[in-house]
Amino acid sequence: MKFLICGGAGYVGSHMVRYLVANGHEVVVYDDLSTGHREAVDVDVPFVHGDIGDAVTLWRLFATHKFDAVIHFCARSLVGESVIDPYQYYRNNVGNTLVLLAAMREAGIHRLVFSSTAAVFGHPRSDTIDESHPTDPINPYGQSKLMIERVLADAARAYGLRSVALRYFNAAGADPSASIGEAHNPETHLIPNVLKAVLGQSAALKVFGDDYDTRDGTCVRDYVHVNDLASAHLLAVQFLEENEGAFTFNLGNGEGFSVREVIAAAERVTGRLVPHAFAPRRPGDPATLVASSLQARKRLGWQPRITVLDDILASAWQWHLQPRF
Ligand code: UFG
Repeated sequence: MKFLICGGAGYVGSHMVRYLVANGHEVVVYDDLSTGHREAVDVDVPFVHGDIGDAVTLWRLFATHKFDAVIHFCARSLVGESVIDPYQYYRNNVGNTLVLLAAMREAGIHRLVFSSTAAVFGHPRSDTIDESHPTDPINPYGQSKLMIERVLADAARAYGLRSVALRYFNAAGADPSASIGEAHNPETHLIPNVLKAVLGQSAALKVFGDDYDTRDGTCVRDYVHVNDLASAHLLAVQFLEENEGAFTFNLGNGEGFSVREVIAAAERVTGRLVPHAFAPRRPGDPATLVASSLQARKRLGWQPRITVLDDILASAWQWHLQPRF
């Protein structure tokens, strides 16, 4: 099949591109490089520099290539930033996605896989979160993703667009080749910050809050390997060949680890100490976020392969030892 990968130079997008190429698919990457890295996309993969809000460039792209599906990773994705500058989030994540969807409709592309997030749930009301859990985002980032999920439901009814929104819990790790990996600037995510602290590339890790209602007082998250996220996207496209409508699936491993447990795992994997200090809670962090991915397993046939926290960390560690960008 032939795919347009919007945001294919970003963290999850670049792993998706590798996965599709390795599985014999044809790919064009579309990215404005606002947060992605040109070096994350192999030189032999067609790359178009552009913004999903740019209808003219999209029109040209769709006139040149015949895509079977679009996989859409482009988004601003920092919760804290979204609270400070919500217009940016609604413009990029909602407004620009509408431009992409309209261009797809004009070009007759009827299949989309969309990156959504556990942030659509807000403060969870149960220990594990399945798709029937109420959505109630507590920040503009989560709101912007939920808005698009709703647009996709309307588009299914009105235009016959087939879509799957995949709600990632905590994307983590790197491709075992260690040639691509997580590289945000600024970096706000726990695992890269832990490894940077180990390497002395940053000051001691700040652990945000040790007074949460969890087993050791620190926040619990469900870490899912980035290549397992990639496999779910391809399964989602295949699922849409046989299923009409707008679907949502949660993607996680179903097991939560606290910040202290991640630090302990990093010390096992690296054989070094993680310099860290406790700091006040970070605004907007729920105590626990753990997915039930039963639906993705049952309906998509998804089977995550790198599920042990130490293995996820080991893959991230190989990348952080020698990051290429
Ligand atoms: N944390 C620290 N120190 C750090 C970084 C993180 O203690 O330097 C803690 C956070 O407070 C949180 C946990 O580690 O308790 C995980 O934090 P991340 O920033 O790695 O991930 P989040 O769970 O905050 O965010 C992820 C996605 C978001 C998504 C969110 C859903 O990255 O895009 O889950 O709530 F919105």
